Amino acid sequence: MKIQDRQYLLTQQYKDPSNLNARIRLHELFSTNPQGIHAWMFDQFALPENCTMLELGCGPATLWQENLTRVSAGWRATLTDFSPGMVAAAQQALAGQPNFTIEQVDAQNLPYPDATFDVVMAHYMLYHVPDRPRALAEIARVLKPGGKFYAMTIGAQHLKEIFEIMRDFDSEWREGHVHTPFTLENGGPQIAPFFSNVELRLYEDSLAITETEPLIQYMRSMSRLSDVDWTDEKITALRAQLETRLTQHGVLHVRKDNGMFIAEKAQ
Ligand SMILES: C[S@@+](CC[C@H](N)C(=O)[O-])C[C@H]1O[C@@H](n2cnc3c(N)ncnc32)[C@H](O)[C@@H]1O
Repeated sequence: MKIQDRQYLLTQQYKDPSNLNARIRLHELFSTNPQGIHAWMFDQFALPENCTMLELGCGPATLWQENLTRVSAGWRATLTDFSPGMVAAAQQALAGQPNFTIEQVDAQNLPYPDATFDVVMAHYMLYHVPDRPRALAEIARVLKPGGKFYAMTIGAQHLKEIFEIMRDFDSEWREGHVHTPFTLENGGPQIAPFFSNVELRLYEDSLAITETEPLIQYMRSMSRLSDVDWTDEKITALRAQLETRLTQHGVLHVRKDNGMFIAEKAQ
């Protein structure tokens, strides 16, 4: 599965933040919930004034860039990602911020002693990890007893209409589209063996897309993540089809399913 292919993820998809940023941009431009997912995520954290935390798969640290004013002086956050390009982007984004240390770490092998952190978080990344039981065991190991684990992910129907357009457009995509192995529907049973009190909170949102180009950039980034890498010719033809569609209908409504698992390490 390309979504879990370490070499592909490191050297292409997450070599730098450009594919991820194309996806974030579509959400920033056309999401109907004005709160914004990163503000909502922060609202779910119940973090004490003084707290040590570890983030896995932090990407370019967008969560922290967007919530910098809400970071307490007593927090010590270790942000990690296995991609050197993402680590560099996070370091650049948070340069001079005293609360953060950025390190290159694979979620399946955490180089920290047992019971180091009050909080561990892993957002939109567990579906990339081939050995999730091992990563979840590592997360439980480095958490202090009573420590919290937070993990955002998507549902199986997330962005359904976008994937339908891609499947209808091209049979190759129909065969090779991304299957997500850690979702809102199947994530709970995967987490439960390692933690107590697993809870799921949902973020209500949708997209109302009115421009073609950000959608094309999104599709391009997703087609790379599937087992089908579309040619520029196909993307050009799809762009023409979408432009006609948006001219006719004015807007494309798209379902979004996002949520956060919250779990606790037994005392
Ligand atoms: C979809 S991005 C999410 C980034 C960020 N958490 C966010 O929500 O914007 C997935 C991130 O996980 C990282 N990643 C994938 N597999 C990983 C692994 N085994 N260990 C650590 N990071 C990994 C990728 O490099 C990428 O930055």
